[in-house]
Amino acid sequence: MQIYLDHGATSPARPEVIELMTEVMRSQWGNPSSLHAWGERSTMAIERARLQVASLLNADPEGIIFTSGGTESDNMALMGIARQYRTPQHMIISSVEHSAVRLPAQYLEQHGWEITRLSVDRDGKVSPQDLGRSLRPNTVLVSVIAAQNEVGTIQPIDKLGQICRNANVPFHTDAVQAIAKIDINVQTLPIDLLSLSAHKFYGTQGIGALYINPLIIQKHGLVPLNLGGGQERGYRSGTQAVAAIAGLGLAAELAAKELMSESQRLTKLRDRLYALLDDIPDLVPTGSSDRLPHHLSFYHKYLDGRRLVRELNYAGIAISSGSACSSGAIEPSAILLAMGYSDSEARNSIRLTLGKSTTEADIEWTALAIHQILSRV
Ligand SMILES: Cc1ncc(COP(=O)(O)O)c(C=O)c1O
Repeated sequence: MQIYLDHGATSPARPEVIELMTEVMRSQWGNPSSLHAWGERSTMAIERARLQVASLLNADPEGIIFTSGGTESDNMALMGIARQYRTPQHMIISSVEHSAVRLPAQYLEQHGWEITRLSVDRDGKVSPQDLGRSLRPNTVLVSVIAAQNEVGTIQPIDKLGQICRNANVPFHTDAVQAIAKIDINVQTLPIDLLSLSAHKFYGTQGIGALYINPLIIQKHGLVPLNLGGGQERGYRSGTQAVAAIAGLGLAAELAAKELMSESQRLTKLRDRLYALLDDIPDLVPTGSSDRLPHHLSFYHKYLDGRRLVRELNYAGIAISSGSACSSGAIEPSAILLAMGYSDSEARNSIRLTLGKSTTEADIEWTALAIHQILSRV
């Protein structure tokens, strides 16, 4: 039996997406910048996808910029804003960002910028009051992850974004894990920049988008990272990946249709798995109850998270661990450390992320396998 519970790492492209992408590669392969019919056919595929992605976010399609994925979108938001300034300014991020936000901020810091990293509580949540207190006259961007990849915690994006809006500071959110799992409506939420990535919701790897609130960002400006042919309204030069963009569009349309029912189904399965693991005293849940519907996270009191990942892999079950291997040494999860957990707790963290293919039987089997493995520890 093979059970994939690592949809937070990547999700398989859905059959409809594969079919569409194959068809686009066959019949809409022209360069979208070309003025002839071949180019027009590709442009039509891209513009359709732009509408589909915009519709998922309830956004103005003008604000959708296709990128190579979440990492590029995050870099574009932070560096695109930063590059407008000749002298270093101040930026705010949270202490539980993905490395695609953390490292651009660190780079800016090394080049004289002041970076505030908002602390989080034991649930992994940022405090809006803290954000309010951290704003300065020279703050040029705030970036807070919508839902944390390792512990699933959903941030109070509405409150954080409103504080930024009131202070006239652009607000970016990395919504790579949140999109298609929870409803994100950029008309009702005060979001100015948002990153998303197709491979987290059954599109393919290597394609994503940055949403740019046209009103706000036109005023504040965003310097493109890629200079060249001026595609994507000059924000992201480079011939567009037409088939992958079409696949992203369809994945977004289907995700919007299924969001409510799928999120209810996954919440039920997730809660069932929590209940089945509840009698293991050494397995401690992490994160908040305000979490992504498909997401479970724990640390084990004694067992290295990577060992549990390996043991489950032998049993045909895929999950992931929060610790990372760096220069041959096991690094504890930076996220759990930021949440106030000890070094060993942060080394022993694991994450299970359910998805479309997950069944009740998968949940029962996984719980049994975890019980068996941990009974031998
Ligand atoms: C929260 C978050 N941001 C950004 C990324 C990077 O996205 P991509 O793999 O599309 O570059 C990931 C990927 O795991 C993520 O979980």
